[in-house]
Amino acid sequence: MRLDSPQMNIMHRACMKASKSLIRDFGELEKLQVSSKGPGDFVSAADKKTEKIIIDELLKAHPDYGILSEEAGIINKENKEKRWIIDPIDGTMNFLNGIPQFAISIGYEEKNEIISGIIFDPIKDEMFFAERGSGAFLNNSRIRVSNKKKLEDSILVTGGPKFDSQKKENIFEEYTSVSKKVSAPIRKFGSAALDIANVACGRFDGYWQWELNYWDIAAGIIILKEAGGFIDFLGKDVKSSIKKNIIATNSNIHQDLLESLSKKNIE
Ligand code: IPD
Ligand code: CA
Ligand code: CA
Repeated sequence: MRLDSPQMNIMHRACMKASKSLIRDFGELEKLQVSSKGPGDFVSAADKKTEKIIIDELLKAHPDYGILSEEAGIINKENKEKRWIIDPIDGTMNFLNGIPQFAISIGYEEKNEIISGIIFDPIKDEMFFAERGSGAFLNNSRIRVSNKKKLEDSILVTGGPKFDSQKKENIFEEYTSVSKKVSAPIRKFGSAALDIANVACGRFDGYWQWELNYWDIAAGIIILKEAGGFIDFLGKDVKSSIKKNIIATNSNIHQDLLESLSKKNIE
């Protein structure tokens, strides 16, 4: 771990502790109690257990910091200055099906701006992290976005639409239209946090997705920016403080991808 701010140390500690239990649970999937939270959205016992370990650790360090976490919701609502944003397992569907593509994602925000973040893939043992002004890292190495210049040559990744999305048809239409502009088929890996992290380290050149939740992307925002990438928000999100519709690229292909998307007018 190259960055040593107090917040980074706290997130790192919480992540390492939670990942031990997560790895154990991944090996014992059949014992997990799975309950339905709604169509296409399952929440597992592992999700809750991981979240508890992370929250306990973060609160131990700073009992007064705000928290926004996927399952637990909001904690210490009055603290708007300093806040952790947590997704205990991003890629739950993969996790539950034994597919090793999921991550813990924790972001740290001050006055509504993401300052630092960690995305940890416990199966590949890949820790992506960044802090404002200090660059982005994957384990011990500095990472940068790719240098691909043409949209046509780019490897793109996306996700969704959600099962109950009202915008399903538009999202499919957009997917088809973007697909025609790139030579390699668009990837779908099922973890928004890792999709962004993989743009940050140059494996993918661009990512976009509608209707995410803020905890899916909070840590990814700073990691991608610090890796030299460009993050933009789609539709009404541009003015909202809780962003949900994202486009994240290596910067070079940004305008071309953005134009291919915004023409479809999904709002
Ligand atoms: C999901 C993943 C997935 C995205 C979904 C998210 P979860 O998060 O990030 O890639 O397509 O929209 O809800 O439910 O696994 O934490
Ligand atoms: Ca998520
Ligand atoms: Ca989750």
